[in-house]
Amino acid sequence: MDANTPLACPDPVEHAVRSRKSVRGFLPRPVPLELVERILSVAAYAPSGSNIQPWKAHLLTGASRDALSAALTRAHYDGTPAEREYDYYPTTWRSPYQERRRATGWGLYSTLGIAKGDRAASSHQHARNYAFFGAPCVLLFTIDDDLGKGSWLDYGMFLQSIMVVATAHGLATCPQAALANYPDIVKRHLNIPASEVVVCGMSMGYEDPDAPANQFRPSRIGVADFLTIHK
Ligand SMILES: Cc1cc2nc3c(=O)[nH]c(=O)nc-3n(C[C@H](O)[C@H](O)[C@H](O)COP(=O)(O)O)c2cc1C
Repeated sequence: MDANTPLACPDPVEHAVRSRKSVRGFLPRPVPLELVERILSVAAYAPSGSNIQPWKAHLLTGASRDALSAALTRAHYDGTPAEREYDYYPTTWRSPYQERRRATGWGLYSTLGIAKGDRAASSHQHARNYAFFGAPCVLLFTIDDDLGKGSWLDYGMFLQSIMVVATAHGLATCPQAALANYPDIVKRHLNIPASEVVVCGMSMGYEDPDAPANQFRPSRIGVADFLTIHK
C-alpha cells in the first residue's frame, strides 16, 4: 500500500493518521473548549529529548480570535512585509522540492478556480489564513528562543499528535506557518514575551465538507522514493 491508496483501514491509529488533512474551510459550529483541552492533554504525551516538553500554546476563540484575525488581515492587505522569526523554507528552491511545492500549490489553486498569475485571487486565498479559514478556534504555538533545533523536532511531534488526536475526535485542523508571518502582532495580542519565537498556528473546528478547498488532497511520494534499504 502506498500513501495514495484509498483509505480503507480498520486500525484506528492508522485511520486517524491517514484521514488527517489540512482543512481550509470550516463550519461556524463551536468547538467545546474541554475537547480542545483534552486533545492537548493527549498530545502532551508526545516525546521530547530529555522530556523537556518545549511547547507553549495559546487557544483563541470568540473576541480574541476575531481581534487577531482582523489585525493579521489588515497587515496582509496593507502590504506589511512578513517577518517570520525563523526560516521555514529554503531561500532558493531546487528540485525535487520545487516540483512538489508547485504541484501542491497549483493543485489547490486550480481546485479553487484560481488561474496562474491571478495575483488578486491568490492574495485573497492567502488572506483566508488570517480568517483561520472560518474556524471558530485557533491555536498559536511558541518556543523559547534559546532552545536548540532538537526542540523544534520535538515540537513537530507535538503538533502532529494534536492533529491526529483531533481527527480521531471528529475535528479538522490546518497547521499554519502563515500565522507566524507577523510575530509582532501575535505577541502584542497575546502578551507573549520577546524571548519566545512564534512557531506557527493551527485552525481547528469542524470541516465544511462542501468548501471547494477541501476537495483537494495532495499526493505523496512512495516509500521507495525516500527509503534506502541496507541488508
Ligand atoms: C508546519 C506547517 C505549516 C503549514 N502552513 C500552512 C499555511 O500557512 N497555510 C496553509 O494553507 N497550509 C499550511 N500547511 C499545510 C500544508 O500545505 C499541507 O500539510 C500539505 O500540503 C499536505 O497536505 P495535507 O496536510 O492535507 O496532507 C502547513 C503545514 C505544516 C506542517
